[in-house]
Amino acid sequence: MRNITIAIDGYSSTGKSTLAKLVAKRLGYVYVDSGAMYRAVTYYAMQNSFIENSKVKVRELIDHLPEIQISFKYNADLGFAEVYLNSINIEKQIRTLEVSSYVSQVSVIPEVRRQLVVQQQEMGKNKAVVMDGRDIGTVVFPKAELKVFLNASPETRAKRRYYELIEKGDNVSFQEVFRNVQERDYIDSNRKDSPLRKAKDAIEIDNSDLTKEQTFQKTMELVTMTLEGYE
Ligand code: DC
Repeated sequence: MRNITIAIDGYSSTGKSTLAKLVAKRLGYVYVDSGAMYRAVTYYAMQNSFIENSKVKVRELIDHLPEIQISFKYNADLGFAEVYLNSINIEKQIRTLEVSSYVSQVSVIPEVRRQLVVQQQEMGKNKAVVMDGRDIGTVVFPKAELKVFLNASPETRAKRRYYELIEKGDNVSFQEVFRNVQERDYIDSNRKDSPLRKAKDAIEIDNSDLTKEQTFQKTMELVTMTLEGYE
């Protein structure tokens, strides 16, 4: 069977990574969480005091970009690849609301995007990859054979993220999480460089009223149709 590239883009907390992991597992493809890379750069900025008074020190961060090495290592117990920053596993550290609150500021920086996009394209050069993010179908892999664009209402997405954080033991309020979801939607959609857009040839799935399993089934139908188209 021919290998394809699958791009899964969409708003935050639409279940992109859950879906991408399931699809990659079913097909035996590599899964790449591009958001984890932007989160890793944000975490690096926080650790190195390049964020002060809630503002990212853009020049300093750009100057230190060559020091940032991001890699993924497969964890067989978890069934997916965890993200490493300069050889240190930071999978847990990048999922906090604090990182979420700065990551959109970091991901507007064109120099950061350029560096990460090159790395993402390299990771997908042999196809057989499922990558999720905001600009995968528009910028990273504009020729991906299948592009899925996930959407859901802001309330539904904030609820999902809120329960996820609470389950992990984070002390957050629903209002905080809801505000963060709205802020990120705004910044991600309005930035100059590679804003969040549905690619013209992407297929939109609104999963406000769908379960994870239903979203997965719908996507697998699209995968089958795409693969049949190449037979
Ligand atoms: O998918 P996520 O919520 O972990 O992504 C975190 C942030 O990273 C998101 O708010 C915007 C940014 N991002 C991006 O700009 N481009 C991508 N391809 C992936 C994520």
